[in-house]
Amino acid sequence: MNITLRVWRQSGPDAEGHMQTIEVPDVSEHMSFLEMMDVVNERLTLAGEDPVAIDSDCREGICGTCGVMINREAHGPVRATVCQLHMRSFSDGDVIDVEPWRSDAFPVVKDLVVDRGAFDRIIQAGGYISAPTGSAPEAHAAPVKKQDADHAFDAATCIQCGACVAACPNGSAMLFTAAKVTHLGLLPQGQPERHSRVLGMVNQHDAEGFGGCSNIGECTAVCPKGIPFDTITRLNRDLLTALMKGGE
Ligand code: SF4
Ligand code: FES
Repeated sequence: MNITLRVWRQSGPDAEGHMQTIEVPDVSEHMSFLEMMDVVNERLTLAGEDPVAIDSDCREGICGTCGVMINREAHGPVRATVCQLHMRSFSDGDVIDVEPWRSDAFPVVKDLVVDRGAFDRIIQAGGYISAPTGSAPEAHAAPVKKQDADHAFDAATCIQCGACVAACPNGSAMLFTAAKVTHLGLLPQGQPERHSRVLGMVNQHDAEGFGGCSNIGECTAVCPKGIPFDTITRLNRDLLTALMKGGE
């Protein structure tokens, strides 16, 4: 099929950006969106033009680096990462807008690449445990209720992609932060720092310039890992307890 891309081009963090129209003929419906971008970049390079900067790594939905806005939707029309979005989700003749995440806390580095270091700093503020874990423990040494284990596992599937921020009208990263707080806070090994963790991570979230959560739910609707909205409720419960214990 033949498609028309309108791609955000921005040569650097402080440069003015603009949409560039690129005609893309002969697109296979079996290509992933990233593979289609590879073809576009190969053609641009052969023509002596600057290829479109776009992040990717694993190309199997686990690293979280490939997120972009496609037709104003985080990750595009399918609830999956861009590397797992296939061109069969589009039609011959489509015009497709491709833009970077739009958030002050994720400054554009170049074209579609943003700096998501803010997420790393939120993790540094509490996303760890201090309990010595040693070698792999015997599975039943520390009993965990099945329900807690399941919720912890679900939260741990967050891949740090940033779609929740891009989709939220408030630019909040509370779903991401809640996932990181929850997957440790539900397990025995995560208890010593449970309250300092939530305080540290929420304070860092706010310091990075992310907005507050007002229960809109766009985040969970676009999350490729289906992190449920009640993960934020868990964070709020832990935060309230930590504040009542005298945290700041
Ligand atoms: S909560 Fe979902 S959308 Fe947000 S960073 Fe994690 S995986 Fe991505
Ligand atoms: S490239 Fe790793 S999630 Fe898409």
